[in-house]
Parts: sequence; structure tokens; C-alpha cells
Amino acid sequence: MDKKAGYEFIQSTKYKNLEASPQEQGEPKPSLEIPLEKGAEIIDLPKGRDIGEGKVDLSGLVEKRESLRKYADVPLTLEELSFLLWGTQGVKSQTEKQLTKRTVPSAGSRHPFETYLLINNVVGLTPGLYRYLALDHKIARLPGRENINQTLTEACLKQQHVKNSAVTFVWVAVPQRTVWRYSQRGYRYIYLDAGHVCQNLYLLAESINCGVCAIAAFDDDLADQAMGLDGKDLFVIYLASLGRRK
Ligand SMILES: Cc1cc2nc3c(=O)[nH]c(=O)nc-3n(C[C@H](O)[C@H](O)[C@H](O)COP(=O)(O)O)c2cc1C
Repeated sequence: MDKKAGYEFIQSTKYKNLEASPQEQGEPKPSLEIPLEKGAEIIDLPKGRDIGEGKVDLSGLVEKRESLRKYADVPLTLEELSFLLWGTQGVKSQTEKQLTKRTVPSAGSRHPFETYLLINNVVGLTPGLYRYLALDHKIARLPGRENINQTLTEACLKQQHVKNSAVTFVWVAVPQRTVWRYSQRGYRYIYLDAGHVCQNLYLLAESINCGVCAIAAFDDDLADQAMGLDGKDLFVIYLASLGRRK
């Protein structure tokens, strides 16, 4: 394997080395959300912002934030899950030009993620794999992934905080959304965008007495396989386990 791949990536994605983007070549804009999986069950969520109303000591949350890998065996409520989804990918507005403004920044407002959820311990939800439908603020339970806890934990190099989390967020990149505008340079932005999303999760989790651990140590092929993704047009980019503080 080429040991200079990182350096070459930075070189080839400098502006001077870019090809015309798909947008410049007149290709249609990619859709804001991937199609609903066949057999998925749609579940309504309570309003996302409600928990966060009122005064929040932001600097206190920033100070308190740390990576937490051991969780109390106490379920999350659906209201709390809704709050965390709103705060990490929630749609604030959508324009006629197929553009969303969300609670996190994103280069060109391209928002190149789908949020999948490994649900282990949330009141009223059967454990399994779900996907956030950001445009409608709902979740979809995806059928046929009964072993997802085991396969995803394996893919994350057996990190036990995945298995023991109340929920593990799995951010899946849809690179074409960003590449459409920025050509191959878009890949840089997707990784930067992912950091903002996870940081919001860290801070909001602290505000409801939960803790998070970011996860980038995972076997890409195993993770994509566990999730049923092709690894090219859709791939796991980042994860975060989450649970209540002991
Ligand atoms: C990009 C990124 C990837 C990370 N991947 C993992 C991981 O796979 N497993 C893990 O236990 N912690 C992971 N962490 C958490 C870091 O180990 C943690 O942030 C660091 O030790 C500092 O501790 P703190 O978050 O408590 O301040 C990751 C953090 C970041 C930002």
C-alpha cells in the first residue's frame, strides 16, 4: 500500500489540481436524503428542541466534556434521543433550491451525512438499527439487522462501549453531495463536517447527564458490511457511543 497516500491526497485536492466539479459540468444536484429502505417502519419523534429550552451553561458543558466509555444501565428516553438527533443533524429550514440549514455547519450546506443509530437501550424502541429521517424529524427502524450490535462492535475492533451504549450514532457519508460542488476537494470537507456533528453530540449529551465516546478506530470494510453499505457511495465515516453517566 502506498505510504504517501495522505500527502498525495492533500496535493491532488489543492484548488490548482482540481477538475471541474459535477455542478460546473451541469450534473443534477444529489438528493438531500437517501431513499427509505424497503420494509422500514417509521416512528414519530417528539419535538427535538424541547429539552434544551431554558438556560444552558455552555462554558460549563465545554469544561465538563470528556470521552465516556462506561455507562449506567439506564435507558435513554425518546425525548432525549430526539433532542440529540435535532442537535446533530436537525433541519431548521429547507429552501426551494433543495438546500437545508441545520443545527450544525457544513461546507456549502451540503450536509453529506445520513445518521444511523444502533439502538440498545431506549425506552419504547426495539433494539436494532435505525436511521434518522432528518427532513421529517422521524426515525426509521431498518429490517433484518438483528445482529447489528455484535457485528458493529466487532467492526469497531471489539470496543465494548459500542455494545454497552444506550445508543451508538453511526454517521454515514454520502460523498457525492459534497463532491458535486467541490470535486475531490469535497472529501476534505466531509471529514471536517463530521467533527462538528460529533462535537455537538458531546456537548448536548453532557447537558442531559450522558457521556459520549467518539470512534474512528474501526474496520471500514466490516463496518460497511454490517450496515449494508457499498463503501463507495455510502460509507461509515465516524461513530460515537453514548449512554447515561453512572
Ligand atoms: C477523531 C477521533 C477518533 C476517536 N476514536 C476513538 C476510538 O476509536 N476509541 C476510543 O475509545 N476513543 C476514541 N476517541 C476519543 C479520544 O481518545 C479522546 O477524545 C481523547 O483521549 C481525549 O480525551 P477526552 O475526549 O476525554 O478529552 C476519538 C476521538 C476523536 C476526536
